[in-house]
Amino acid sequence: MSVRFSLIAALSTSNEITDEVKFAFEKAQVEANTTLFKKGVPKSVDVKEIGQLIDIKYSGNTTELKFESGTYTRAHDALFRFKKYVAPVLGSYHIGIRGIDVKKYKMTITGVPDNVRIPTLPFIESHELKNGELTLDLKVTSADLENKVPDRILKLIEEKIQSVSYGGKGEHWELVFASAPKPRLFTRDPTEEMVKRNWIRHGAARGQWIHGPQSVQLFRAFEQIVVEKIIRPLGFSEMIFPKLTPWDVWMRSGHAKGVYPEIYYVCTPKTRDPAFWEDVGDYFKVTGKVPVEMIRDKIDGPIGGLCYAQCPSFWPFVQGETLGTASLPVKVFDRSGTSHRYESGGIHGIERVDEFHRIEIVWLGTAEQTVAMADRLHEAYHHVFEEILELEWRCAKVTPWFMAQEGMVDTGKTPQTVEGGACGCGERVGTTDYEAYLPYSDNWLEFQNVSINGDKYPKGFNVKIQSGADCWSGCSGIGLERWTAAFLAQKGLDMANWPDNMKKLVGEPNEIFRFM
Ligand code: SER
Ligand code: ZN
Repeated sequence: MSVRFSLIAALSTSNEITDEVKFAFEKAQVEANTTLFKKGVPKSVDVKEIGQLIDIKYSGNTTELKFESGTYTRAHDALFRFKKYVAPVLGSYHIGIRGIDVKKYKMTITGVPDNVRIPTLPFIESHELKNGELTLDLKVTSADLENKVPDRILKLIEEKIQSVSYGGKGEHWELVFASAPKPRLFTRDPTEEMVKRNWIRHGAARGQWIHGPQSVQLFRAFEQIVVEKIIRPLGFSEMIFPKLTPWDVWMRSGHAKGVYPEIYYVCTPKTRDPAFWEDVGDYFKVTGKVPVEMIRDKIDGPIGGLCYAQCPSFWPFVQGETLGTASLPVKVFDRSGTSHRYESGGIHGIERVDEFHRIEIVWLGTAEQTVAMADRLHEAYHHVFEEILELEWRCAKVTPWFMAQEGMVDTGKTPQTVEGGACGCGERVGTTDYEAYLPYSDNWLEFQNVSINGDKYPKGFNVKIQSGADCWSGCSGIGLERWTAAFLAQKGLDMANWPDNMKKLVGEPNEIFRFM
Protein backbone atom coordinates (compact mmCIF):
# COMPACT_ATOMS: atom_id res chain seq x y z
CA MET A 1 0.00 0.00 0.00
CA SER A 2 1.25 3.49 -0.76
CA VAL A 3 -0.34 6.83 0.01
CA ARG A 4 -0.03 10.28 -1.54
CA PHE A 5 -1.46 13.50 -0.14
CA SER A 6 -1.95 16.57 -2.29
CA LEU A 7 -3.18 19.89 -0.96
CA ILE A 8 -3.83 23.36 -2.36
CA ALA A 9 -4.38 26.05 0.25
CA ALA A 10 -4.90 29.77 -0.20
CA LEU A 11 -3.18 31.98 2.32
CA SER A 12 -4.90 35.34 2.69
CA THR A 13 -2.70 38.19 3.82
CA SER A 14 -3.32 41.71 5.07
CA ASN A 15 -1.40 43.20 2.15
CA GLU A 16 -0.49 42.35 -1.37
CA ILE A 17 2.63 40.25 -1.89
CA THR A 18 5.03 42.49 -3.78
CA ASP A 19 7.97 41.25 -5.83
CA GLU A 20 10.32 41.93 -2.97
CA VAL A 21 8.19 39.79 -0.66
CA LYS A 22 7.88 37.05 -3.28
CA PHE A 23 11.65 36.72 -3.26
CA ALA A 24 11.67 36.18 0.52
CA PHE A 25 8.72 33.84 0.22
CA GLU A 26 10.52 31.62 -2.26
CA LYS A 27 13.63 31.61 -0.13
CA ALA A 28 11.44 30.27 2.68
CA GLN A 29 10.05 27.65 0.28
CA VAL A 30 13.54 26.36 -0.54
CA GLU A 31 14.50 26.34 3.12
CA ALA A 32 11.31 24.45 4.03
CA ASN A 33 11.73 21.85 1.32
CA THR A 34 15.36 21.18 2.07
CA THR A 35 15.41 21.26 5.87
CA LEU A 36 12.18 22.22 7.66
CA PHE A 37 10.02 19.41 6.27
CA LYS A 38 12.75 16.83 6.84
CA LYS A 39 12.97 17.51 10.58
CA GLY A 40 12.11 14.41 12.59
CA VAL A 41 12.02 12.16 9.54
CA PRO A 42 14.40 9.19 9.71
CA LYS A 43 17.34 9.42 7.29
CA SER A 44 16.42 6.12 5.66
CA VAL A 45 13.09 7.47 4.37
CA ASP A 46 12.88 8.05 0.60
CA VAL A 47 12.67 11.83 -0.08
CA LYS A 48 9.61 11.25 -2.27
CA GLU A 49 7.73 10.29 0.90
CA ILE A 50 8.41 13.65 2.58
CA GLY A 51 6.16 16.69 2.18
CA GLN A 52 7.19 19.42 -0.29
CA LEU A 53 5.83 22.82 -1.19
CA ILE A 54 5.85 22.40 -4.96
CA ASP A 55 4.06 25.45 -6.32
CA ILE A 56 3.16 29.01 -5.35
CA LYS A 57 0.68 31.26 -7.18
CA TYR A 58 0.33 34.89 -6.16
CA SER A 59 -2.76 36.93 -6.78
CA GLY A 60 -3.10 40.14 -4.79
CA ASN A 61 -3.84 39.32 -1.15
CA THR A 62 -4.09 35.59 -1.66
CA THR A 63 -1.29 33.20 -2.29
CA GLU A 64 -2.01 29.66 -3.34
CA LEU A 65 0.35 27.01 -2.05
CA LYS A 66 0.48 23.47 -3.37
CA PHE A 67 1.88 20.73 -1.15
CA GLU A 68 2.48 17.10 -1.94
CA SER A 69 3.67 14.27 0.23
CA GLY A 70 3.80 10.61 1.00
CA THR A 71 3.32 9.60 4.62
CA TYR A 72 6.07 11.75 6.17
CA THR A 73 5.40 15.42 6.97
CA ARG A 74 2.07 14.96 5.27
CA ALA A 75 0.82 17.77 3.01
CA HIS A 76 -1.27 19.32 5.80
CA ASP A 77 1.53 19.07 8.37
CA ALA A 78 3.84 20.73 5.85
CA LEU A 79 1.26 23.51 5.38
CA PHE A 80 1.15 24.33 9.11
CA ARG A 81 4.89 24.06 9.51
CA PHE A 82 5.38 26.37 6.57
CA LYS A 83 2.82 28.87 7.83
CA LYS A 84 4.55 29.08 11.18
CA TYR A 85 7.90 29.49 9.47
CA VAL A 86 6.81 32.10 6.94
CA ALA A 87 4.72 34.22 9.31
CA PRO A 88 7.69 36.14 10.80
CA VAL A 89 9.21 36.51 7.31
CA LEU A 90 6.02 38.22 6.12
CA GLY A 91 5.86 40.08 9.41
CA SER A 92 9.13 41.78 8.64
CA TYR A 93 7.35 43.33 5.64
CA HIS A 94 4.37 44.28 7.84
CA ILE A 95 2.19 41.63 6.27
CA GLY A 96 0.01 39.44 8.49
CA ILE A 97 -1.59 36.11 7.66
CA ARG A 98 -5.37 36.42 7.92
CA GLY A 99 -6.50 32.90 7.24
CA ILE A 100 -6.15 29.66 5.33
CA ASP A 101 -8.69 28.48 2.82
CA VAL A 102 -8.35 24.87 1.74
CA LYS A 103 -9.01 24.76 -2.01
CA LYS A 104 -8.31 21.13 -2.75
CA TYR A 105 -7.32 18.07 -0.83
CA LYS A 106 -6.70 14.82 -2.58
CA MET A 107 -5.58 11.50 -1.15
CA THR A 108 -4.46 8.62 -3.34
CA ILE A 109 -4.12 5.17 -1.83
CA THR A 110 -2.90 2.19 -3.83
CA GLY A 111 -3.36 -1.49 -3.09
CA VAL A 112 -7.01 -1.15 -2.10
CA PRO A 113 -9.15 -4.29 -2.67
CA ASP A 114 -12.24 -3.48 -4.73
CA ASN A 115 -14.66 -4.86 -2.12
CA VAL A 116 -13.65 -2.28 0.50
CA ARG A 117 -16.55 -0.11 1.57
CA ILE A 118 -15.52 3.48 1.16
CA PRO A 119 -16.87 5.54 4.06
CA THR A 120 -19.53 8.12 3.29
CA LEU A 121 -18.47 11.01 5.46
CA PRO A 122 -19.24 14.70 4.99
CA PHE A 123 -15.47 15.17 4.51
CA ILE A 124 -15.35 12.90 1.47
CA GLU A 125 -16.71 14.86 -1.49
CA SER A 126 -16.11 12.15 -4.06
CA HIS A 127 -14.08 9.02 -4.51
CA GLU A 128 -12.97 6.69 -7.24
CA LEU A 129 -11.60 3.18 -6.91
CA LYS A 130 -9.98 1.80 -10.04
CA ASN A 131 -7.40 -0.94 -10.46
CA GLY A 132 -6.70 -0.93 -6.76
CA GLU A 133 -6.11 2.81 -6.68
CA LEU A 134 -8.43 4.83 -4.48
CA THR A 135 -8.64 8.59 -4.99
CA LEU A 136 -10.48 10.68 -2.44
CA ASP A 137 -11.38 14.34 -2.89
CA LEU A 138 -11.80 15.79 0.55
CA LYS A 139 -13.85 18.80 1.53
CA VAL A 140 -12.08 20.08 4.60
CA THR A 141 -11.41 23.32 6.43
CA SER A 142 -8.08 24.26 7.91
CA ALA A 143 -9.54 23.43 11.34
CA ASP A 144 -10.28 19.92 10.03
CA LEU A 145 -6.67 19.67 8.91
CA GLU A 146 -5.46 20.76 12.34
CA ASN A 147 -7.75 18.11 13.78
CA LYS A 148 -5.92 15.53 11.63
CA VAL A 149 -9.01 14.53 9.64
CA PRO A 150 -6.99 13.22 6.63
CA ASP A 151 -4.90 11.02 8.92
CA ARG A 152 -8.01 9.66 10.60
CA ILE A 153 -9.63 8.94 7.24
CA LEU A 154 -6.52 7.07 6.14
CA LYS A 155 -6.54 5.03 9.36
CA LEU A 156 -10.21 4.24 8.90
CA ILE A 157 -9.63 3.02 5.36
CA GLU A 158 -6.69 0.91 6.52
CA GLU A 159 -8.99 -0.71 9.10
CA LYS A 160 -11.59 -1.39 6.44
CA ILE A 161 -8.96 -2.96 4.19
CA GLN A 162 -7.84 -5.13 7.12
CA SER A 163 -11.39 -6.17 7.84
CA VAL A 164 -12.07 -7.35 4.27
CA SER A 165 -8.76 -9.17 4.09
CA TYR A 166 -9.20 -10.93 7.44
CA GLY A 167 -12.98 -10.89 7.70
CA GLY A 168 -13.37 -14.43 6.43
CA LYS A 169 -11.13 -15.85 9.11
CA GLY A 170 -13.76 -15.42 11.79
CA GLU A 171 -13.09 -14.80 15.42
CA HIS A 172 -10.17 -16.07 17.34
CA TRP A 173 -10.88 -19.14 19.51
CA GLU A 174 -8.27 -21.19 21.33
CA LEU A 175 -9.18 -23.87 23.85
CA VAL A 176 -7.67 -23.45 27.33
CA PHE A 177 -9.47 -26.10 29.36
CA ALA A 178 -12.27 -28.63 28.91
CA SER A 179 -14.01 -30.48 31.76
CA ALA A 180 -14.77 -34.16 31.59
CA PRO A 181 -18.10 -35.05 29.93
CA LYS A 182 -20.99 -35.23 32.39
CA PRO A 183 -23.93 -37.66 32.38
CA ARG A 184 -26.80 -36.72 30.03
CA LEU A 185 -29.78 -36.03 32.29
CA PHE A 186 -31.89 -33.90 29.99
CA THR A 187 -32.02 -33.31 26.27
CA ARG A 188 -34.79 -30.78 25.74
CA ASP A 189 -34.68 -27.01 25.34
CA PRO A 190 -34.82 -25.68 28.91
CA THR A 191 -36.59 -22.46 27.89
CA GLU A 192 -39.56 -24.35 26.49
CA GLU A 193 -39.71 -26.39 29.67
CA MET A 194 -39.53 -23.26 31.85
CA VAL A 195 -42.38 -21.70 29.88
CA LYS A 196 -44.46 -24.85 30.22
CA ARG A 197 -44.08 -24.74 33.99
CA ASN A 198 -44.72 -20.98 34.15
CA TRP A 199 -41.26 -20.27 35.50
CA ILE A 200 -40.98 -17.53 32.89
CA ARG A 201 -43.26 -15.77 30.40
CA HIS A 202 -42.48 -13.48 27.47
CA GLY A 203 -42.27 -9.80 28.36
CA ALA A 204 -44.13 -7.26 26.23
CA ALA A 205 -40.90 -6.02 24.63
CA ARG A 206 -38.81 -8.00 22.16
CA GLY A 207 -36.22 -10.37 23.60
CA GLN A 208 -37.50 -9.83 27.13
CA TRP A 209 -38.75 -12.28 29.76
CA ILE A 210 -40.72 -11.86 32.91
CA HIS A 211 -39.11 -14.13 35.44
CA GLY A 212 -41.50 -15.88 37.80
CA PRO A 213 -40.57 -16.76 41.37
CA GLN A 214 -39.07 -20.14 40.41
CA SER A 215 -36.70 -18.64 37.86
CA VAL A 216 -35.67 -15.95 40.32
CA GLN A 217 -34.95 -18.64 42.94
CA LEU A 218 -32.35 -19.98 40.53
CA PHE A 219 -30.92 -16.53 39.81
CA ARG A 220 -30.58 -15.82 43.55
CA ALA A 221 -28.98 -19.19 44.18
CA PHE A 222 -26.40 -18.48 41.50
CA GLU A 223 -25.84 -15.03 42.96
CA GLN A 224 -25.31 -16.56 46.37
CA ILE A 225 -22.73 -18.95 44.95
CA VAL A 226 -20.95 -16.08 43.24
CA VAL A 227 -20.98 -14.01 46.44
CA GLU A 228 -19.85 -16.84 48.73
CA LYS A 229 -17.30 -18.53 46.51
CA ILE A 230 -15.91 -15.67 44.46
CA ILE A 231 -16.81 -12.15 45.49
CA ARG A 232 -16.35 -12.45 49.27
CA PRO A 233 -13.23 -14.64 49.39
CA LEU A 234 -11.50 -12.50 46.77
CA GLY A 235 -12.54 -9.30 48.55
CA PHE A 236 -14.75 -7.51 46.01
CA SER A 237 -17.00 -4.67 47.19
CA GLU A 238 -20.43 -3.92 45.80
CA MET A 239 -21.06 -0.73 43.85
CA ILE A 240 -23.96 0.49 41.72
CA PHE A 241 -23.04 1.38 38.15
CA PRO A 242 -25.44 3.61 36.17
CA LYS A 243 -27.56 1.86 33.57
CA LEU A 244 -27.91 4.73 31.13
CA THR A 245 -24.68 5.20 29.24
CA PRO A 246 -24.07 8.63 27.68
CA TRP A 247 -21.92 9.09 24.57
CA ASP A 248 -19.00 10.42 26.58
CA VAL A 249 -18.55 7.06 28.29
CA TRP A 250 -18.76 5.16 25.01
CA MET A 251 -16.33 7.59 23.38
CA ARG A 252 -13.80 6.75 26.07
CA SER A 253 -14.55 3.02 26.21
CA GLY A 254 -14.24 2.66 22.44
CA HIS A 255 -17.83 1.51 21.96
CA ALA A 256 -18.46 4.68 19.93
CA LYS A 257 -16.41 3.04 17.17
CA GLY A 258 -18.94 0.42 16.32
CA VAL A 259 -21.68 -0.57 18.76
CA TYR A 260 -24.48 1.30 16.91
CA PRO A 261 -26.39 -1.67 15.44
CA GLU A 262 -26.97 -3.13 18.91
CA ILE A 263 -27.79 -0.11 21.06
CA TYR A 264 -31.08 0.60 22.76
CA TYR A 265 -31.05 4.35 22.25
CA VAL A 266 -32.21 6.79 24.92
CA CYS A 267 -33.87 10.15 24.19
CA THR A 268 -35.03 13.01 26.38
CA PRO A 269 -38.10 15.26 26.00
CA LYS A 270 -37.42 18.62 24.34
CA THR A 271 -39.24 20.12 27.33
CA ARG A 272 -41.17 18.83 30.33
CA ASP A 273 -43.84 21.47 29.83
CA PRO A 274 -47.16 19.53 29.95
CA ALA A 275 -48.67 21.88 27.34
CA PHE A 276 -45.98 20.85 24.83
CA TRP A 277 -47.00 17.20 25.27
CA GLU A 278 -50.74 17.62 25.61
CA ASP A 279 -51.59 16.69 22.00
CA VAL A 280 -49.70 13.41 22.31
CA GLY A 281 -51.84 12.30 25.22
CA ASP A 282 -54.96 13.64 23.49
CA TYR A 283 -54.16 11.65 20.36
CA PHE A 284 -53.91 8.50 22.41
CA LYS A 285 -57.13 9.23 24.26
CA VAL A 286 -59.04 9.57 20.99
CA THR A 287 -57.39 6.86 18.86
CA GLY A 288 -56.08 4.40 21.42
CA LYS A 289 -52.73 4.58 19.61
CA VAL A 290 -49.47 6.14 20.73
CA PRO A 291 -48.38 8.62 18.01
CA VAL A 292 -44.76 7.60 17.67
CA GLU A 293 -43.98 10.01 14.80
CA MET A 294 -45.39 12.91 16.78
CA ILE A 295 -43.22 11.92 19.73
CA ARG A 296 -40.15 11.77 17.50
CA ASP A 297 -40.55 15.51 16.84
CA LYS A 298 -40.76 16.28 20.51
CA ILE A 299 -37.64 14.55 21.76
CA ASP A 300 -33.95 15.35 21.78
CA GLY A 301 -31.00 13.04 21.56
CA PRO A 302 -30.34 10.17 21.60
CA ILE A 303 -28.09 11.13 24.48
CA GLY A 304 -26.67 7.61 24.65
CA GLY A 305 -28.10 4.18 25.27
CA LEU A 306 -29.11 1.61 27.84
CA CYS A 307 -26.36 -0.30 29.62
CA TYR A 308 -24.61 -2.56 27.11
CA ALA A 309 -21.30 -3.79 28.52
CA GLN A 310 -21.92 -2.87 32.19
CA CYS A 311 -18.36 -2.00 33.23
CA PRO A 312 -17.80 1.20 31.16
CA SER A 313 -20.22 3.17 33.40
CA PHE A 314 -18.02 2.42 36.41
CA TRP A 315 -15.08 4.37 35.07
CA PRO A 316 -16.28 7.98 35.54
CA PHE A 317 -16.04 7.19 39.29
CA VAL A 318 -12.23 7.12 39.03
CA GLN A 319 -11.83 9.28 35.93
CA GLY A 320 -8.92 11.72 36.11
CA GLU A 321 -7.76 10.32 39.47
CA THR A 322 -4.49 8.86 40.69
CA LEU A 323 -5.16 5.86 42.91
CA GLY A 324 -3.02 5.39 46.02
CA THR A 325 -0.97 2.21 46.29
CA ALA A 326 -2.88 1.21 49.43
CA SER A 327 -6.16 0.94 47.56
CA LEU A 328 -4.76 -1.38 44.89
CA PRO A 329 -5.91 -3.59 43.44
CA VAL A 330 -9.35 -1.97 43.45
CA LYS A 331 -11.94 -4.78 43.43
CA VAL A 332 -15.62 -3.99 42.88
CA PHE A 333 -18.74 -5.49 41.37
CA ASP A 334 -22.20 -4.43 40.20
CA ARG A 335 -25.44 -6.37 40.03
CA SER A 336 -27.81 -3.44 40.09
CA GLY A 337 -29.64 -3.76 36.82
CA THR A 338 -30.17 -5.03 33.35
CA SER A 339 -28.05 -4.89 30.22
CA HIS A 340 -29.66 -4.38 26.84
CA ARG A 341 -28.63 -5.40 23.35
CA TYR A 342 -30.62 -5.26 20.18
CA GLU A 343 -30.05 -8.86 19.13
CA SER A 344 -32.25 -8.72 16.04
CA GLY A 345 -32.75 -12.16 14.51
CA GLY A 346 -30.42 -13.75 17.04
CA ILE A 347 -32.96 -13.96 19.88
CA HIS A 348 -33.29 -17.45 21.28
CA GLY A 349 -34.78 -18.79 24.48
CA ILE A 350 -33.50 -17.17 27.65
CA GLU A 351 -29.90 -17.41 26.47
CA ARG A 352 -30.01 -14.86 23.69
CA VAL A 353 -32.19 -11.93 24.71
CA ASP A 354 -32.39 -8.16 24.37
CA GLU A 355 -32.62 -7.64 28.14
CA PHE A 356 -30.47 -9.61 30.51
CA HIS A 357 -29.08 -9.76 34.04
CA ARG A 358 -25.42 -9.95 34.78
CA ILE A 359 -23.05 -9.59 37.70
CA GLU A 360 -20.07 -7.59 36.49
CA ILE A 361 -16.79 -7.82 38.38
CA VAL A 362 -14.17 -5.12 37.81
CA TRP A 363 -10.65 -4.79 39.16
CA LEU A 364 -7.68 -2.51 38.51
CA GLY A 365 -4.11 -2.09 39.64
CA THR A 366 -0.67 -2.77 38.23
CA ALA A 367 -0.31 -5.15 35.29
CA GLU A 368 0.87 -7.86 37.69
CA GLN A 369 -2.02 -7.35 40.10
CA THR A 370 -4.51 -7.40 37.24
CA VAL A 371 -3.20 -10.64 35.80
CA ALA A 372 -2.95 -12.25 39.23
CA MET A 373 -6.59 -11.42 39.97
CA ALA A 374 -7.69 -12.93 36.67
CA ASP A 375 -5.85 -16.12 37.63
CA ARG A 376 -7.55 -16.26 41.02
CA LEU A 377 -10.93 -15.77 39.37
CA HIS A 378 -10.23 -18.59 36.93
CA GLU A 379 -9.42 -20.88 39.88
CA ALA A 380 -12.58 -19.87 41.73
CA TYR A 381 -14.80 -20.37 38.68
CA HIS A 382 -13.18 -23.73 38.03
CA HIS A 383 -14.14 -24.81 41.53
CA VAL A 384 -17.73 -23.61 41.15
CA PHE A 385 -18.38 -25.28 37.80
CA GLU A 386 -16.71 -28.54 38.78
CA GLU A 387 -17.66 -28.99 42.44
CA ILE A 388 -20.87 -27.04 42.88
CA LEU A 389 -22.71 -26.93 39.57
CA GLU A 390 -21.06 -30.08 38.16
CA LEU A 391 -21.27 -28.71 34.65
CA GLU A 392 -19.78 -29.90 31.40
CA TRP A 393 -17.86 -26.77 30.49
CA ARG A 394 -14.77 -25.48 28.81
CA CYS A 395 -12.94 -22.18 28.45
CA ALA A 396 -11.19 -20.61 25.50
CA LYS A 397 -9.19 -17.52 24.65
CA VAL A 398 -11.27 -15.50 22.22
CA THR A 399 -11.29 -12.15 20.44
CA PRO A 400 -11.25 -9.61 23.30
CA TRP A 401 -14.78 -8.43 23.99
CA PHE A 402 -13.78 -4.80 23.60
CA MET A 403 -12.50 -5.45 20.08
CA ALA A 404 -15.61 -7.39 19.16
CA GLN A 405 -17.86 -4.67 20.59
CA GLU A 406 -15.95 -1.95 18.75
CA GLY A 407 -16.76 -3.79 15.56
CA MET A 408 -13.07 -4.57 14.94
CA VAL A 409 -12.55 -7.92 13.34
CA ASP A 410 -9.97 -10.22 14.70
CA THR A 411 -6.75 -10.15 12.79
CA GLY A 412 -5.34 -13.25 14.44
CA LYS A 413 -2.88 -11.03 16.28
CA THR A 414 -2.85 -10.27 19.98
CA PRO A 415 -4.67 -7.03 20.71
CA GLN A 416 -3.12 -3.61 20.59
CA THR A 417 -2.49 -3.00 24.29
CA VAL A 418 0.23 -5.54 24.78
CA GLU A 419 3.24 -3.54 25.91
CA GLY A 420 4.40 -3.27 29.48
CA GLY A 421 4.21 -5.45 32.53
CA ALA A 422 7.41 -7.01 33.80
CA CYS A 423 5.61 -10.33 34.15
CA GLY A 424 5.16 -10.90 30.45
CA CYS A 425 1.62 -9.72 31.15
CA GLY A 426 1.26 -8.30 27.67
CA GLU A 427 0.48 -11.69 26.28
CA ARG A 428 -2.34 -12.11 28.77
CA VAL A 429 -4.43 -9.19 27.49
CA GLY A 430 -7.69 -10.50 26.11
CA THR A 431 -10.86 -12.37 26.90
CA THR A 432 -11.42 -15.92 28.09
CA ASP A 433 -14.93 -17.17 27.44
CA TYR A 434 -16.55 -19.87 29.55
CA GLU A 435 -18.81 -22.16 27.56
CA ALA A 436 -21.25 -24.85 28.65
CA TYR A 437 -22.46 -27.78 26.61
CA LEU A 438 -26.12 -27.72 25.56
CA PRO A 439 -27.26 -31.30 24.94
CA TYR A 440 -30.53 -30.22 23.27
CA SER A 441 -28.76 -28.39 20.45
CA ASP A 442 -25.34 -30.03 20.57
CA ASN A 443 -23.87 -26.52 20.86
CA TRP A 444 -21.72 -24.69 23.34
CA LEU A 445 -23.11 -21.62 25.07
CA GLU A 446 -20.87 -18.79 26.22
CA PHE A 447 -22.13 -18.14 29.73
CA GLN A 448 -19.53 -15.81 31.18
CA ASN A 449 -16.12 -14.31 30.56
CA VAL A 450 -12.95 -13.11 32.27
CA SER A 451 -10.94 -10.37 30.59
CA ILE A 452 -7.65 -8.66 31.11
CA ASN A 453 -8.21 -5.36 29.38
CA GLY A 454 -4.65 -4.01 29.64
CA ASP A 455 -4.37 -0.23 29.93
CA LYS A 456 -7.33 0.41 27.63
CA TYR A 457 -9.74 1.70 30.29
CA PRO A 458 -7.27 3.56 32.51
CA LYS A 459 -6.03 5.32 29.36
CA GLY A 460 -9.51 6.05 28.02
CA PHE A 461 -10.65 7.49 31.36
CA ASN A 462 -7.28 8.95 32.35
CA VAL A 463 -6.73 6.94 35.53
CA LYS A 464 -3.26 6.65 37.05
CA ILE A 465 -1.71 4.82 39.98
CA GLN A 466 0.57 6.28 42.63
CA SER A 467 3.69 4.29 41.73
CA GLY A 468 3.65 5.70 38.22
CA ALA A 469 3.54 2.19 36.77
CA ASP A 470 1.00 1.47 34.03
CA CYS A 471 -2.51 1.03 35.37
CA TRP A 472 -4.32 -2.03 34.05
CA SER A 473 -7.77 -3.40 34.55
CA GLY A 474 -9.86 -6.48 34.11
CA CYS A 475 -13.51 -7.44 34.20
CA SER A 476 -15.66 -10.52 34.32
CA GLY A 477 -19.31 -10.72 33.34
CA ILE A 478 -21.48 -13.43 34.88
CA GLY A 479 -24.68 -13.85 32.88
CA LEU A 480 -27.51 -15.09 35.07
CA GLU A 481 -29.77 -16.09 32.15
CA ARG A 482 -26.82 -17.90 30.63
CA TRP A 483 -25.96 -19.75 33.87
CA THR A 484 -29.61 -20.74 34.14
CA ALA A 485 -29.75 -21.92 30.51
CA ALA A 486 -26.52 -23.90 30.91
CA PHE A 487 -27.49 -25.49 34.21
CA LEU A 488 -31.04 -26.44 33.20
CA ALA A 489 -30.00 -27.65 29.75
CA GLN A 490 -27.67 -30.15 31.42
CA LYS A 491 -29.59 -31.03 34.59
CA GLY A 492 -33.20 -30.49 33.56
CA LEU A 493 -35.94 -28.91 35.66
CA ASP A 494 -36.50 -31.79 38.05
CA MET A 495 -34.56 -31.16 41.21
CA ALA A 496 -34.02 -34.87 41.77
CA ASN A 497 -31.24 -34.67 39.17
CA TRP A 498 -29.57 -31.59 40.62
CA PRO A 499 -26.38 -31.55 42.68
CA ASP A 500 -27.23 -31.50 46.41
CA ASN A 501 -25.76 -28.03 46.92
CA MET A 502 -28.08 -26.57 44.33
CA LYS A 503 -31.13 -28.33 45.71
CA LYS A 504 -30.45 -26.74 49.07
CA LEU A 505 -29.71 -23.27 47.73
CA VAL A 506 -32.72 -23.09 45.43
CA GLY A 507 -35.31 -24.75 47.66
CA GLU A 508 -38.64 -26.13 46.48
CA PRO A 509 -40.00 -24.21 43.45
CA ASN A 510 -42.31 -21.50 44.67
CA GLU A 511 -45.38 -21.84 42.48
CA ILE A 512 -47.76 -19.03 43.36
CA PHE A 513 -49.63 -18.74 40.06
CA ARG A 514 -52.54 -20.97 39.14
CA PHE A 515 -53.72 -20.12 35.62
CA MET A 516 -57.31 -21.21 34.94
N1 SER B 1 -17.89 -6.03 29.95
C1 SER B 1 -17.73 -7.35 29.43
C2 SER B 1 -18.63 -7.62 28.25
O1 SER B 1 -19.41 -6.79 27.88
C3 SER B 1 -17.92 -8.37 30.50
O2 SER B 1 -19.23 -8.37 30.97
O3 SER B 1 -18.54 -8.67 27.70
ZN1 ZN C 1 -16.64 -5.57 31.58
